[in-house]
Amino acid sequence: MKVTVVGAGAVGASCAEYIAMKDFASEVVLVDIKEGFAEGKAMDLMQTASLNGFDTKITGSTSDYSKTAGTDVAVITSGIPRKPGMTREELIGINAGIVKSVSSSIIEHSPNAIIIVVSNPMDTMTYLVHKSTNLPKNKIIGMGGALDSARFKYRLSEALDCPASDIGGMVIAAHSDKGMLPLTRLATRNGVPVNQFVSDERLEQVSADTKVGGATLTGLLGTSAWYAPGAAVSAMVQAIAQDSKKMFPCSTLLEGEYGLNDLCIGVPVLLGKNGIEEIVKLDLNEAEMAKLNESAEGVKKTNALLETQTA
Ligand code: 2OP
Repeated sequence: MKVTVVGAGAVGASCAEYIAMKDFASEVVLVDIKEGFAEGKAMDLMQTASLNGFDTKITGSTSDYSKTAGTDVAVITSGIPRKPGMTREELIGINAGIVKSVSSSIIEHSPNAIIIVVSNPMDTMTYLVHKSTNLPKNKIIGMGGALDSARFKYRLSEALDCPASDIGGMVIAAHSDKGMLPLTRLATRNGVPVNQFVSDERLEQVSADTKVGGATLTGLLGTSAWYAPGAAVSAMVQAIAQDSKKMFPCSTLLEGEYGLNDLCIGVPVLLGKNGIEEIVKLDLNEAEMAKLNESAEGVKKTNALLETQTA
């Protein structure tokens, strides 16, 4: 499998590193607009191969997309990250232009590629890739829910004082501070509902901390996070490479599922060799459905900005 990662910044480089460390891809191409930057990151990563024991070949390219030809999965991380105090939505003006041109360059050289969108505002950028390319919907996947779910499991593992690997749980809806929907009711520790271990108040705190997971890190780091975003993408790419049909909440184009239409938003999907193999229908209760609908309204408002920002 050939993977292209566009944007050799912290998220892109972490993603390339985790993919290489898991050794399921034959090749990773890092692309960046900054002269020599992707080549440098690729060389540095390749110099870890003998130490870390991987055979994946990592190369870099300064905006030369001919090097990406034959890509199976392309990851778009390019664009500006948010700074402390910024929302993901505020990045739309600059990032929309970048994501549009990057996706068209990828498809020009790899018309059959599956595209994973990481750039923010992620749900709207995923929708933009739909609107600006002719790719089938199963081939365009937004990353947010996989990351938010990992952050949810981390917060739950803190609350339950247990390993994160004991926790099952998902965050659906928008990848935004207000729009995220951690599914606390369905979260378990090895199949046992989490509310058997901690109070409802503590679970509300877990949910609140999960929703501002990205903002908390942006405040601490001065820029947005990279390890967990990179790990979330690499887990998704691995599921596609190994055709595992593993379930992740991902941003996908909805056409009536969950009663929603004409937007990309996070719902559980199965990932396999065709990208999104299936959208999984959850039996949400009334309160959860109301939150999902509210979140969808927020995403649609941000999508509407595409008309003015990318005209
Ligand atoms: C985050 O939440 C980058 O949006 C990403 O950290």
